[in-house]
Amino acid sequence: MSTDISRYTITAALPYANGPVHIGHLAGCYLPSDIYARYLRKNDKELIFVCGTDEHGAAINMKAQSEGAQPREIVDRYHDIIRNSLDQVGISFDIFSRTSKEIHHKTAQDFFKTLYDKGSLEEKVTQQYYDEEAGQFLADRFIMGECPNCHFGEAYGDQCENCGTSLSSTELINPKSRLSGSAPVLKETKHWFLPLDHLSGKIKDYIQSHKNWKPNVYGQCMSWLDAGDGLQARSMTRDLDWGIPVPLDDAEGKVLYVWFDAPIGYISATKELKGEAWTDWWTKDDTKMVHFIGKDNIVFHCIIFPAMLMEHGGFHLADEVPANEFLNLEGKKISTSRNWAVWLHEYLEDFPGQEDVLRYVLTATAPESKDNDFTWNDFQTRNNSELVAILGNFVNRVQVLMQKYYEGEVPQPSTLSDTDQAALKEIEEAPALIGESLEKYRFREALSRMMNVARLGNKYLADQEPWKVIKNDPERAATILYVATQICAQLSQMMEPFMPFSAEKLRTNLGLESLGWNDCAKQEFLAPGMIVKAGGHLFTKVEDEVINAQKEKLEASNTAEAEPSYEALKGEIQFEDFLKLDLRVGTITKAEKVKKADKLLHLEVDLGFEKRSIVSGIAQHFDLEDLPGQKVSVVVNLAPRKLRGVLSQGMILMAEDSEGNLKFTATPEDMPNGSVIR
Ligand code: 2FM
Ligand code: ZN
Repeated sequence: MSTDISRYTITAALPYANGPVHIGHLAGCYLPSDIYARYLRKNDKELIFVCGTDEHGAAINMKAQSEGAQPREIVDRYHDIIRNSLDQVGISFDIFSRTSKEIHHKTAQDFFKTLYDKGSLEEKVTQQYYDEEAGQFLADRFIMGECPNCHFGEAYGDQCENCGTSLSSTELINPKSRLSGSAPVLKETKHWFLPLDHLSGKIKDYIQSHKNWKPNVYGQCMSWLDAGDGLQARSMTRDLDWGIPVPLDDAEGKVLYVWFDAPIGYISATKELKGEAWTDWWTKDDTKMVHFIGKDNIVFHCIIFPAMLMEHGGFHLADEVPANEFLNLEGKKISTSRNWAVWLHEYLEDFPGQEDVLRYVLTATAPESKDNDFTWNDFQTRNNSELVAILGNFVNRVQVLMQKYYEGEVPQPSTLSDTDQAALKEIEEAPALIGESLEKYRFREALSRMMNVARLGNKYLADQEPWKVIKNDPERAATILYVATQICAQLSQMMEPFMPFSAEKLRTNLGLESLGWNDCAKQEFLAPGMIVKAGGHLFTKVEDEVINAQKEKLEASNTAEAEPSYEALKGEIQFEDFLKLDLRVGTITKAEKVKKADKLLHLEVDLGFEKRSIVSGIAQHFDLEDLPGQKVSVVVNLAPRKLRGVLSQGMILMAEDSEGNLKFTATPEDMPNGSVIR
């Protein structure tokens, strides 16, 4: 490991206290950060691992509103649920704080005041939607309406979830307040903005000095910075009745924007933990700062928060932001509103004592470089065929044989064969190999390298067959069991960051302390004569009934499935209206992503008579490489328009179900491009 780092500040995204956490949160952020923190602790590094609940913002108000409760009740309830479930699954935070604490309010207000006093904030009066019935200004998420781009009827005031375009609420067609359902009116309001354009060079230099970041992180930052419209000033205050009051005299009824205060939460939590010494963890360049987050938080952590810190001055910026992509569930996007999720607190109730199984499966399938899928069948297979059949089976067999032949006393080895030496060498090299992956934030690879040690052990035992050898050559059998015991011992150490509960159980059975990571680069952990205890099974088989019950539970609680919704029928049109549409057969010839729009693709479509540029909101439904060659039906006489600066000269027909799944409408493969559809 690098020697010029004196300490590590590890942060995990603060979960909103408006609901429990699910397996997507765990796989995306809390497990990788925990594995990393445990690994560093085992390396004897000085570190803090901080987190807490994000208790402000419109998300909390929305939840309170929907339950007819006060925001305070909501955040208290979910803070406890989240803290307990993360604790039970072994996430080893040094502190799990709350942004509603006084220390955080003061830290965030002081930060804001510093920016204000330096003249870094711009005061602007803007027009904002106001709900006259509810008597309050509406945060973007509180407004819904028709998207000006794709005409989806339920776009939010900040983004259309259908085409991915970021919007401002005043762009929505027929806006409605989600509080009262009434049409909001525009009213003047004053806010404080953080201009970013003057920082764009500095931010770009900062990002470009981290070309080693994961491609998904670096790419998203660069596409943001390169997007034509430059870095717009961002309002750092909101009109809301829940949040941190803006610390200015003329700011009655205004609070800090949640994305202003939340990342400062990492700093407040450090203050709470370390007191005066907090500055070591946030201002010194020999501190390594690592933010673990999900992909929806990349821009805030890599651009906006660093911009705030730059403007404030005196801070050390993030060195690493190993953001993960999203985890899907049984082929569908995890959705809190549709209750399509595996909730952590429910898993812990349904699978007592099996925390490590979830840790293992989620690490093995972590969405490190692309979205990935969790399925209950895969959970079962990984448990039964990997944890039980490989790891558990190996350590159990060794412990049983050790009791049977030697009453647990590690035998004296005789001459080591080439195979023995190779096996011992492999365990000696394991820490460096696994550590190399962990330091690159490749947790899946690290886990698989750890499991290779178990595979090695399994194969070694199966090939050497000590249960047969002992009949004629007890000396050789003793050597085999000596070697197998050392493999077991190494596993008990290397498992620690990934499966801390099982690792401890195994280590205790073997009578071993937790050793430093580099101290594990050795061949002998248990000298001859040492006693190991009989151990129980580390893992147990998960039966089909258990998996079926989980699948049923998921289906039953999925509100979207229970009540399929159909889009409202449109009004009648005349045949002449239909005839106005010019529909043609085409073939997609090129497909690429549109910068700064997760859902948009820029396509080239061959219509026979010409090739057209078409922007389509289908990016999340198809792999780019599958698109060229796809036959499509195209509306070719729509007036051209620009989406995200890219010219769109037509629209491709798609079928969409009530959950937003998209498929191309059937277009005959053997009809030439340009053929008329009527
Ligand atoms: O996306 C979220 O869940 C946010 N609550 C994450 C905040 S991370 C940090 F900045 F506090
Ligand atoms: Zn749209």
